[in-house]
Amino acid sequence: MKDRIDQLLAEINTIRAISMDEVEQLRLKYLSKKGLVSALFDDFKGVPAGSKREVGQLLNELKNKAQQKLDDLKSQFEQREEVSAAKPDLTRPAGHIEPGTRHPLSIVRNQIIEIFGRIGYTVADGPEIEDDWHNFSALNFTPDHPARDMQDTFFIAQDPDILLRTHTSSVQIRTMESTKPPIRMIFPGRVFRNEAISARAHCIFHQVEGLYIDKNVSFADLKQTLMYFAKEMFGEHTKIRLRPSYFPFTEPSGEMDVSCNICGGVGCNICKYTGWVEILGCGMVDPNALDNCGIDSKSYTGFAFGMGIERITMLKYQIRDLRLFYENDVRFLKQFTGAF
Ligand code: PHE
Repeated sequence: MKDRIDQLLAEINTIRAISMDEVEQLRLKYLSKKGLVSALFDDFKGVPAGSKREVGQLLNELKNKAQQKLDDLKSQFEQREEVSAAKPDLTRPAGHIEPGTRHPLSIVRNQIIEIFGRIGYTVADGPEIEDDWHNFSALNFTPDHPARDMQDTFFIAQDPDILLRTHTSSVQIRTMESTKPPIRMIFPGRVFRNEAISARAHCIFHQVEGLYIDKNVSFADLKQTLMYFAKEMFGEHTKIRLRPSYFPFTEPSGEMDVSCNICGGVGCNICKYTGWVEILGCGMVDPNALDNCGIDSKSYTGFAFGMGIERITMLKYQIRDLRLFYENDVRFLKQFTGAF
C-alpha cells in the first residue's frame, strides 16, 4: 500500500498539462470517484489496524498534493485566458502624437498657387544659379544698372556672368524664350541678395513671379487680376492701391499696396501708420524684353508681377520678424498645425 502511495505521489509531482481540457482529464484520472487516489481510499479498508494511522496520514497527504497540483495548473490557464480575452479599452486617452506641420512659407506659397490656379495659371520653375543674360540683360537692365552691383548680387567664383538669381523675373525670360504665347504662368522660388539680415530683410527669401502674355492684354487686366488675388488672399474687404514705379523690364511699372489687415487701415507699426502695406512690383512687359526672347512685341502684350512670400506671410499671420522663418524654432512652427 505504501509503495503504491509513493508511486502515485511521484507521478503526480511530474504531471503537466497544455490546456484546461487536459487539467480536467487529470482530475478525472486521479481525483474523481473512480480515480486512482479514490481507489486507494477504497483499499484502505484492508489495511491492518496497526498501520491504519500511518497509512491514513500518507493517503490524506497524497490527496491534498494532488488537489493542490491540479488547482495550480487550473489557475495558470485561467490567468492566461483572462489576458487573451482582455479587449483594448477604447475609452482610454490615446498617446500624444505631435502632427508635423507645414512651414508657414510653404502654406502661403501653396495658397498663392491655388488662387492663381483657379484662373488658369500653371506653375513652372527655373534655376537658382543663373547667368547675367536671364537675370539682368534680357530683362533690359543696362550694363551699368546699379542692381548689378556687387553689393546686391552674389556672384559665383569671381565670374561676373554666373550668379545667384536676385529675383524670379529670370524665369520670365526662360519661359518666353521657350514658350509661344499665350502664356499664363506663375514661378515660385528662392532668390538671393547680399543684404544684412534684420527683422525686415534676409539674404535668402522667396518670390512668386506671374506672367501673362497674349494679344490685347491691358493694364486693366493686370489690375483686375491683382485685385482678385488680394481679396482671395486677405479677404473680401481688402483694398488695393497701385503706385507708379520703375523696373527696367516693365513699362509702365507699378507697386501694389494692400490695406493693412492688421489694423484694418487705421494705422499700426506694421504699416508704419499709413494703413497700407506694399506686397508686390508689377507692370506691362517692356517691348524690349519681349523682343529679347523672340516674341513679337507688335502682336503681343502682357503683364508681369513679382511678390515676396515672406511679406505676405507676415501680413497674413501677423509675424513681426522675418528671421523667425529661418530659425525653425518648433514653438513658432507648431502654431501652423492643420494648415495645408
Ligand atoms: N523682380 C522685381 C523685384 O524683385 C519685381 C517685379 C516682377 C516687378 C515683375 C515687375 C514685374 O523687385
